[in-house]
Order: sequence, then structure tokens, then C-alpha cells
Amino acid sequence: MHTTPKREFIPFALEREMSRWEKIVSFNISESGVWPISLKELIQDDAFLQQLLDAPLDYPHVQGRPALRERIAHLYDGKANADNVLVTVGGAGANHAILSSLLKPGDQAAFMTPNYLQLWGIAQNNGIHCQTFSLRDADDWRLDRDELKRAINPQTKVVFVCNPNNPTGKVLSPSEMSAVLEAAADVGAWLVADEVYRGAEREAAEITPSFWGKYERVIVCGSLSKAYGLPGLRLGWLVAPPAILEECAARQDYTTITAGLLANLIAEYALQPAVLQRIRQRTRNLLREGYALLEEWGMEQGQRFTWVPPQAGAIAFIRYRPTVPSEEFVRRLAEAESTYAAPGAHFGVEQHIRISYGLPPDFLRMALDRVSRVVDFFS
Ligand SMILES: Cc1ncc(COP(=O)(O)O)c(C=O)c1O
Repeated sequence: MHTTPKREFIPFALEREMSRWEKIVSFNISESGVWPISLKELIQDDAFLQQLLDAPLDYPHVQGRPALRERIAHLYDGKANADNVLVTVGGAGANHAILSSLLKPGDQAAFMTPNYLQLWGIAQNNGIHCQTFSLRDADDWRLDRDELKRAINPQTKVVFVCNPNNPTGKVLSPSEMSAVLEAAADVGAWLVADEVYRGAEREAAEITPSFWGKYERVIVCGSLSKAYGLPGLRLGWLVAPPAILEECAARQDYTTITAGLLANLIAEYALQPAVLQRIRQRTRNLLREGYALLEEWGMEQGQRFTWVPPQAGAIAFIRYRPTVPSEEFVRRLAEAESTYAAPGAHFGVEQHIRISYGLPPDFLRMALDRVSRVVDFFS
């Protein structure tokens, strides 16, 4: 059957441009997870290494190995079980499966901004009507509750949030979480929470609470890419009521079918309690050391850069003083300084760049000095 697209495809600008620069610059500070962990650092168990070497490279269970689904379920404070978990190719795979299961062309959905614009972009490309509500820059990225109310109406089928938020690192307060839940529940909409930064808290001792279990129409997405420093595994998941999970699995059959066997095995290893604890400690150390350095650099810069301290995620969303567009700013940074940061424009907010600080201190310091030189250039 031949069908012609109704309008032009909207590319995912953030990912397109990152893939252009991230492997050719000397300092890539555009990532949002902590510095990736090597297999050698991760796997400190000869028996498990042997198991990996012996594993036939078969398809795994397509919904994820049962033991892995069990371990992922444990991340939800006893409120999920393996039947709620579908393993996907990254959080990206989970988001794609969720959106295509819940929405069809002509439907309405509400999206938090600023945001990682994957879900918004898929919705745009699929003819879904999108409303937005903000975390407000001028109000330390607090939720704009009036906008939230205006964005949701009885036709809204899904409300999408990202918590902890990319790019701001903001974590919703308990009362903001309740406001979002109430707004969705009032119209019987699904609430989809992208929680891939959960576990990368900078200061809080506790892991950010999940939306899972707080309302019967909630779906959450998680990933090993960010807080766990394992983006190359391409291992994510969604947690959903079983009937919706089946719908998502049926969508995944048409795209990736399943995550890889090696990713399943390594994820299962990474999520066993002792290893999980070790990874979490590593993440905390990187975030705390990196942020101390970022703050020190910020003090030296005076008013040239300002930002609201991020609560979670290895990212800071930084406003720079010159009024140059953010895409021009990062082009100069890449071409003249061999450093890449994500421009605010890719999150819908100008005069900002998103930088990663969950990085080794020397590397981070050298990259930040390059960012300063770009401000000098445009000042
Ligand atoms: C909010 C959010 N969700 C999902 C993803 C996709 O991540 P991955 O597919 O590596 O898990 C990202 C990546 O930056 C993200 O920021």
C-alpha cells in the first residue's frame, strides 16, 4: 500500500547534532549521564565473565530475561513485579513503544517543557495535537501550575513528564507531583513519566520517588544509560500495567523486537544489590566532585554564566550572558574549541547550553575553560 506523508518529517535536532559532533571533538560535554563505566571496572567476578563467554548469542526472552525483569521491578519499592516490566532498547525504545501504544493521529497530549524532545517529536511526526506546560526559568524551574491546568482538558489522553528533568536537573517536589497526578486523574488521562535520571541525585540521599504506583494509569520509563553510566548497553525498560505492557511489546515487535542478549546479561549483573550499590556510589562521587568543580569555575566567571543548581542528572542548564543564539554558540565551541555542549534551542530554551558535569575533574576543567573562551569571543 502506498501512502504519502502529509507533512515534512521533523528530525530530532538534539540527537542529530550530537551524533555529528560527539565523536570528533576532544571534549564532549553534551552527554547527560555520568562518565561511562568500562566492562573491566563493572565486572569484578570471574564466574560471571565465564558465563558471558559461554553464552550462546541467541535472542534473549524478547520481553527481557525473567531475572532481569525481577531486578528492575525491585527498583520500585515493592510496588512493581516482573509482570510490569518490559525490557527495551534504551529509554528511547521504551518511550517509542509507550507513545505509539497510547496515541494515534488526531489525539491530544500534554508535554512538560523544557524537555528531551523525543516524545514531543514523535508526537509531532504522528499527527498528535501537543499542548505544553512549563517548568519556569524565572521561578527556579518550578512547575507552572496554571499552565498545567490550561494544557489539560477532557480530550487529553496522555500527560508526559520528565522527572528528574532533562535539561534542568529539576526534581518535582511532592506537591508538584501531586498536582500533575491530579491534573491527569481529573480527565482520566494516562501519566507517562520518563524517569531515566532517577538514581543520579546530586545532593539528596534518597532516590527520586517514582510516579509508579501513585495512580492506576501511570507508565514509567527507566534506563541504565544515565545514573548507571552504561549507555552503550542500550538497555532500558518501561513499567506498566500488564495489559498496556502487552500493547507496548506488540509495538516493539515491529521495531527492535528485543534488547540484546549481552545487554540483558550485563544489566542483570549490574542490578544485583552489591554491584548496584557500587555503581550508585561511583555515580554519587562523580556528581559531587564534578559539581564542586563546576561551582568553583562558576565563581570565577562572575555574571557571565548563571544557573539554577540541578538536583539530579549529570547535567547543568547554564545561561550565558551574550545574546547570541545557542546553536551559534555551540558551533563556535565545536569548531574553534573542539568541545561540544548541547544548545538550549534543542530543548526549546534560548541563551542556554546544557553541559555534563559527571565527568573526570581534569577533563571537565579543560572543557569549561573552552566554554569561557567562547563567551569572551561573543562578548
Ligand atoms: C529524558 C530522556 N529519556 C530518554 C533518553 C534516551 O536514553 P537511552 O535510550 O540511552 O536510555 C534520554 C537520553 O538523553 C533522555 O534524556
